[in-house]
Amino acid sequence: MTNPQKGNCIACHDLPGIPGQTSNFGPSLKGVGAKWNREDLVRWVTDARVLKPDTLMPPYGTHQALVKVNPARAVLSAEQIKEVVDTLQTWR
Ligand code: HEC
Repeated sequence: MTNPQKGNCIACHDLPGIPGQTSNFGPSLKGVGAKWNREDLVRWVTDARVLKPDTLMPPYGTHQALVKVNPARAVLSAEQIKEVVDTLQTWR
């Protein structure tokens, strides 16, 4: 979530308890574990367009409808998304 080569969530979000936020382009992720159930957190990370069609958050679990992706694969694997969502669920 802090690795610029992978999730890089910290580029846009405040991650509670983790220093290094670089912008407030997205909302703080404090409390998301209480705000959203696990299914919706998986949706947010995999492809937030499912929840919010005009979202500014990049999809991590698909490259569908993206242009110029190289290599043409999702940024995070299903296993990595599971680990991210495990962490999100602890932020209540
Ligand atoms: C390019 C900026 C950007 C990055 C990188 C990013 N997000 Fe987001 N995210 C957003 C924005 C913006 C929103 C608010 C929804 C909107 O306006 O599209 C959001 C919303 C969310 C929400 C819902 C928050 C709420 O309060 O309802 C979650 C959960 C979330 N992001 C998780 C993540 C995770 C986990 C990562 C890393 C794997 C990540 N985001 C990476 C921009 C980003």
